This record gives sequence, structure tokens and C-alpha cells, in this order.
Amino acid sequence: MNIVLIGFMGTGKTSVGRLLANRLGYDFIDTDAVIERLEGRSISEIFATDGERYFRNLEAEQALILANADRRVVATGGGFPLNPKNIELLHGNSVIVLLQASPQTILERVQPDQNRPLLQVDDPLSKIESLLVVRAAFYAVADITVDTSDKDLQEVAEFIHTELIRRGNLHGESES
Ligand code: S3P
Repeated sequence: MNIVLIGFMGTGKTSVGRLLANRLGYDFIDTDAVIERLEGRSISEIFATDGERYFRNLEAEQALILANADRRVVATGGGFPLNPKNIELLHGNSVIVLLQASPQTILERVQPDQNRPLLQVDDPLSKIESLLVVRAAFYAVADITVDTSDKDLQEVAEFIHTELIRRGNLHGESES
């Protein structure tokens, strides 16, 4: 069984994922980081040179690989669930957890980071709001949802851990 974190940029998937993996004794994987390593260049460079569609294909390749993984906490890129096949592949062996945050919180968290090509626009808050509307249905596939706006990273990891126990997703190994 794996835990797959989905959600918009800036909702804390990578930071929470690391903490949660630590708690569970699972390996941690960040699909964006794997893609950057395999490609030898940043997400921004991939978008600028080869475009979003090329990047989405790389994400789909990661979903195929993860369909055979076990005991991993996976932080996905914010657009990962836009391809329903990615979620279909992972639902068989994973609990899908959605991290949410308000548009303003997202803006504050992502603003210092230039490596988010989709938000390099004049009015990033409007872009965040419109992308959230478009993506709402794709994010609704989650088994567990947590709003991270007023929680610190440890609280979010603890909430997910508790939910996994409550739902019976952990079979004794990491329930303490
Ligand atoms: C994207 C989110 C990014 C990264 C890419 C596209 C998106 O990941 O995959 O810039 O479409 O929301 P994070 O959510 O980790 O920032």
C-alpha cells in the first residue's frame, strides 16, 4: 500500500510527504524531483523547452512505475490528477490524500519560488483561483481530504496518520 498526496501547488505535498513517510517508515518519492533528476533539468526548463504536454507524459510514466510500488509516500505535482489514468493506476494500491489551501495561502507559499511555470503571470492570484475551479473535479477523487491553511506541517502529517489508522489502512506496522 502507498499514500499518494495530490493537491494544488503550495499545499505542502512535499514537506508533509516527508514527515508522513518518516512516521510510517515508508520511502518518500516526489514525482517532480524524480522527473527533474531523470531529465537533468528543472521543471521550468522542461516547460520552456518542450511544453506542458511533454511534462504531462513524463508524469504519466511515473504513474505507471508507481502502480507497482509498495510502502511509499508519494508527493505528486499539482497537475498529476488531471490525467484520470494516473489516478486509476494508483487507486488499486494507494490511498489518495488531497491537501487543500485557500488561494491566498497558496499565493503566499509559492511566491518566493520561480520554479512554478504556470504561475509566472501578471496576476498569479487570479490564475490560482481559476485553476482551482477547473481542477476541483479532478481533485475530488481523494479518499482523505485535509485543509492545510491553518495547520502546520506536523499537524497535517498527524491528521493524515490518524485518518489512515481510523480507516484501517495501516495493518499494525506503524500505528503508534
Ligand atoms: C504543476 C505543479 C508543480 C509542477 C509543475 C506543474 C501544476 O508541482 O508539477 O509546475 O500543474 O499544478 P507542485 O504542485 O509540486 O508545485
